[in-house]
Amino acid sequence: MKQIIIQSILTILSEKELSIQEKDLMHQAFEARSKAYAPYSKFTVGVALLLDNGVVVQGSNQENAAYPSGLCAERVAIYYAGANYPSAKMVQMFITASPQDRNLQEPIPPCGSCRQAIAEYEMKQDIPIEILFMGAEGPIYKSDSLKNILPLVFDKNHL
Ligand code: THU
Repeated sequence: MKQIIIQSILTILSEKELSIQEKDLMHQAFEARSKAYAPYSKFTVGVALLLDNGVVVQGSNQENAAYPSGLCAERVAIYYAGANYPSAKMVQMFITASPQDRNLQEPIPPCGSCRQAIAEYEMKQDIPIEILFMGAEGPIYKSDSLKNILPLVFDKNHL
C-alpha cells in the first residue's frame, strides 16, 4: 500500500506582527463584519479583499429566510471583485468571524465552498491569494496561497 502525505504550512501571527497593510485590511474586515446580515445564525463574518489596483472590497455574510439562498462573506467579496474589477488580481483576503453575542478568539477558516470559489480566481489570475483569518480577536492564521488550505483542489485542468 502506498500513501501520500499532504502538508500545509500556515503562519500564526498576533496583531502586533501584521504589516501596516494587513492591519488596515483587518480593520476593514472588522468594519465589513459589522455590516453582516445574519439574523438567523447570528454568526457574523467580514472580509476585506485587497486588489492589485489598490481597491479594497468588503464583503459580509448575507442570510435569507430561505437559508440556502444566503451567501458567505468570502463569496460576496470575491464575486463583487470579479464582477466589478474583472481584470484586477486579488492579492490578499482578510477574514474575521464571530457569533454576535461574544468575541471568538479562535481563527475561523473559510468554508469548503468558499475555498473552492477562491481557488477559481487564484487559478484564473495565476498568482497566489494570501488568506488571513481570525475570530473576533486573538491569533491570526496566514496562508500564502489558497492551495495551502485546499489541497487536492478540483480545477479546470480536471475537466
Ligand atoms: N459563513 C461565512 O460567511 N463564511 C464561511 O466561510 C462560513 C460561514 C456564514 C454563512 C452563514 O451566514 C453563517 O456564517 C453561519 O454559517
